[in-house]
Amino acid sequence: MGNPKNSPSFSGARIEFRDAADNTPALIWMAGEDGLCSWFNRGWLEFTGRTMEQEFGNGWVEGVHPQDLQNCFDQYTEHFNARDSFLLEYRLRRSDGQYRWILDSGTPVFDPQGTFLGYNGVCFDIHERKESENAHNKKLHHLWECEKKRARNKENQLLEILNSLALGKDDDTGCHIIRTQAYVKALANRLQSTGHYLDQLTDRDVDNLFRTAPLHDVGKMAIPDHILKKPGKLTEEEWQVMQTHASLGAEILSTAKLKYGDKGGDNLLNTAIDIASGHHEKWDGTGYPQGLKGQDIPLVARIMAVADVYDALVCVRPYKKAWAHEQAVEEIINLKGSAFDPLIVEAFILEQDLFKEILDEHHDA
Ligand SMILES: [Fe+2]
Repeated sequence: MGNPKNSPSFSGARIEFRDAADNTPALIWMAGEDGLCSWFNRGWLEFTGRTMEQEFGNGWVEGVHPQDLQNCFDQYTEHFNARDSFLLEYRLRRSDGQYRWILDSGTPVFDPQGTFLGYNGVCFDIHERKESENAHNKKLHHLWECEKKRARNKENQLLEILNSLALGKDDDTGCHIIRTQAYVKALANRLQSTGHYLDQLTDRDVDNLFRTAPLHDVGKMAIPDHILKKPGKLTEEEWQVMQTHASLGAEILSTAKLKYGDKGGDNLLNTAIDIASGHHEKWDGTGYPQGLKGQDIPLVARIMAVADVYDALVCVRPYKKAWAHEQAVEEIINLKGSAFDPLIVEAFILEQDLFKEILDEHHDA
């Protein structure tokens, strides 16, 4: 408990300060060497509408807003222990019940011999300034959200343009895009629910994967039609050209990223680049274009690889007939650990019925 008004531990200077402080309109308090409040001026008591006895010791904290109490206490304790000055902002209840923002300036007091006597504090009502600051911050936050939304819309438009370019060049229909998106989402959700790769599969990561999956073959727009649409088997030379679609896709998307940046702040184009460049890499390192191995292949590309191969197997292509769903499932399982990440194949096995449903629902016309 703090020292009452006439305690001998107050120096003469403190008593003089107290008398002068009583006649100022500011809110002033004094605390003893034990950290407990021992005196409040008239301005403080009129402001809070409480008595000196009620405010003594730690009584005054009853008027501090509950949301500010912990921070107030922590800061006060830290500075008090260090014996240094502080500035604190908190809401203090006024006599009419309204909480007002207060700037509290505390200064340690020492006698001429350097003995610590306690603290003197002066408080100012900064409510109007604080409220306008909060309103300003709210406005800034709103503007920032609008800018993010605008950038995201711009990114969506960019994705749509790139999608339509990629589609126009390929024999696939829009159903391929819908299926592919649904497949990768099913795999990503299953990996999430089984606790795999959680650090790379936040909800935003999954959303990015879903939105950019259709761009995996965007590089095909740079492949000549006589190779892309050739009905028969490709020659070795044609196959080499065909394989460049992965790195070409990454180049196209990197150019788009340079031009449009990552204004949405959600890493969307980086995900698109990872998928386009890595979806033909194989888990055992025998894929293209870089021959990456295992987890060096971006996760989104490893997921895309399973979805893309499944869709290629179950659909008609210029060079092949459609496989039955069961055959395709068997093939994916056979490629576990060689072409595909074993954990993703496990997720595929658990989601195979959903794959079939997606295929049936969005079958090519
Ligand atoms: Fe591809």
